[in-house]
Amino acid sequence: MKAAIMGYGTIGSGVAKVLDTNKEVLAERLGEPLELKYILDLRDFPGDPHEDCFVKDYKKIANDKEVKIVVETMGGVEPAFTFVKAMLEAGKSVTTSNKALVADKGAELMQIAETNNVNFVFEAAVGGGIPIIRTLTACLTGDVIEEMAAICNGTTNYMLTNMEQYGSDYVEILAEAQELGYAEKDPTADVEGHDSCRKIAILTSLVSGKNVDFNDIPTEGISKISSTDFKYAKAMGRSIKLIAHSKMIGKTYSCRVAPFLVKPDNMLYHVSGVMNAVSVKGNMLGESMYYGAGAGALPTASAVVGDMVFLGRNLDKHIKIGWSEEKLELANANEEKYRYFVRTSALQSNIENEFDEVEYANLDLDEEVGFITKEMTEAEFNERKAALGGIISVIRLY
Ligand code: HSE
Repeated sequence: MKAAIMGYGTIGSGVAKVLDTNKEVLAERLGEPLELKYILDLRDFPGDPHEDCFVKDYKKIANDKEVKIVVETMGGVEPAFTFVKAMLEAGKSVTTSNKALVADKGAELMQIAETNNVNFVFEAAVGGGIPIIRTLTACLTGDVIEEMAAICNGTTNYMLTNMEQYGSDYVEILAEAQELGYAEKDPTADVEGHDSCRKIAILTSLVSGKNVDFNDIPTEGISKISSTDFKYAKAMGRSIKLIAHSKMIGKTYSCRVAPFLVKPDNMLYHVSGVMNAVSVKGNMLGESMYYGAGAGALPTASAVVGDMVFLGRNLDKHIKIGWSEEKLELANANEEKYRYFVRTSALQSNIENEFDEVEYANLDLDEEVGFITKEMTEAEFNERKAALGGIISVIRLY
């Protein structure tokens, strides 16, 4: 079975490595050898073991009837979308690790795959090495998924863990995460929560069967989290985690990405470093949780190669997963209810006037006080917060 890789960066070269290392076992599992025929990349890689495979024009792959499986590991929406669409229309099945592409164009590409009787799969797009996509689209199809909570960005979890454990400086730890190959080229996508937002949009699309527009999801990242926030968190016996959350409300879902203060009795509290975890609640299943390496070349490449075997086993047969292009109108996030931890320079008497009952989480700092509100809607909290003023930071409690 002949395959091609488009994009020979961290993940693409990882895919080649997995294909080489596990060559024999892959041939056994597929029933025939899985061979790399082309690698599309504009750069040259002299001395690479696959030196002879490199091409610079995607049409060379699209026009080669022998190629049945194409891997897209270029990242970004364009030109990835144009290339993937061309491959599907040329009758090739595609696997991608590109969450930006899947979140933006996934439903459309799925439709194109169905029209051309091929498959479009993307196990590596969420949770890297955690098989969460196939879990949701195959194993848990007997359930209505009522809630998902995910730590699905390895970079930010690595950064938060280091900030918590070693009091590390934000900038220094970001550079380290980039060096380790976890962070995106542009770290904004990681630290501002956009990457997690796209991932929870994909997961919510899959469990709802409709298309979630990631732009509709309220998203906050970790760039404003400071070492003082961690001191407060410690005083409250909690940790700070960037959580991508999705909860069924009636016939739709309410989604949010934000840093949350998490207690030790929640399993997400214990997910440290680059690891990812997705907690899933089903109406029959109850809760189950999936944990593992969420980023890095080989865990992600492993998921891509698993997809390649799946594609090879299902040639000439489109496997429906029920993701339509119809838009899912998300529930109003302003109606979500939380307790909020607030740092403010306001006077204690004003805090109690605005918020009635509060719990203080005081670090005895000179110019501020920290307190936790009772549970209220976002809308109500925002009103009271504006009336109080002097806000330094706010983190929701999970
Ligand atoms: N930058 C992403 C992360 C890569 O840190 O999780 C995996 O999607």
